[in-house]
Amino acid sequence: MLPQLHETQRAFDSVAADYDGPSGNNALIQRFRARMRSAVLEAAPSGSKWLDLGCGTGLDAEFFAQQGYQVVAIDWSPAMAARTIRRLAEAGLTSRVEVRQLGAHELGQLPSDSFDGVYSDLGPLNCTPRLAEVAGQLARVMRPGGKLVVSVIGRLCPWELAFFAARGRWRRATARLTQDFVPVPLNGQTVWTRYYSPREFEAVFSAAGFRRVWLRSLGLLVPPPYLSAFAERHPRLIDQLQAIDDRCAGWPVLNQWGDHFLLEMLRP
Ligand SMILES: C[S@@+](CC[C@H](N)C(=O)[O-])C[C@H]1O[C@@H](n2cnc3c(N)ncnc32)[C@H](O)[C@@H]1O
Repeated sequence: MLPQLHETQRAFDSVAADYDGPSGNNALIQRFRARMRSAVLEAAPSGSKWLDLGCGTGLDAEFFAQQGYQVVAIDWSPAMAARTIRRLAEAGLTSRVEVRQLGAHELGQLPSDSFDGVYSDLGPLNCTPRLAEVAGQLARVMRPGGKLVVSVIGRLCPWELAFFAARGRWRRATARLTQDFVPVPLNGQTVWTRYYSPREFEAVFSAAGFRRVWLRSLGLLVPPPYLSAFAERHPRLIDQLQAIDDRCAGWPVLNQWGDHFLLEMLRP
């Protein structure tokens, strides 16, 4: 087991109690989340069975269970998985969601051909070593015709480049350009994070047999979630930027930029 996996696990354990607040679910994050949810709702009908990879505190699992989906929600962090279990119990949705403390590197424990789709919201796959193996396992656990809907932290974030370059913080501005896992601070701990361009990420999943349905950026002009204080001061501007994002975020070239990207792929 890589020591980085344990550091990342400890970091997320340490924030699980507060993660539904400003750090993990502020208004900018909710914009990203809403678009991922719409993508899943359009990808497969209510009643279908989905794997939530890196479920965090279970916000999405609860949402999809309320919409009538069956969900298996997994997370590498025991504290996050425990939050999800509690959330689902309080909502009376335990019959629709099975929660397991399981890392993406442990997908071998799940049965083959068991999901109509897999979603992974807001970057769990950025924390996953050996992405090619994970892609192969996801292909195995999905039924033919299954959909993969993932939101992943991208490499080229216009706001981040401009914001930190304008302050002369070049290393911070270009941190995402590193080709390897980099230590990202969270609550005084470390999340080992690998940034991907959509092209790099897609190539890994294409090699595992997936085919792209569509790709769009999230946070092309809308600022990244850590600039939520700025967004709160300029709500009209953010709405205008969001409208432009929603119109242009799928265009070629532009879909390679953004704080995150949202990708739907098909397992033929
Ligand atoms: C940024 S949070 C997103 C959580 C959730 N998907 C959401 O939308 O709120 C990333 C989540 O990925 C989980 N994670 C990190 N590394 C993981 C791994 N190797 N396997 C599974 N989950 C992982 C973390 O514990 C954390 O809950």
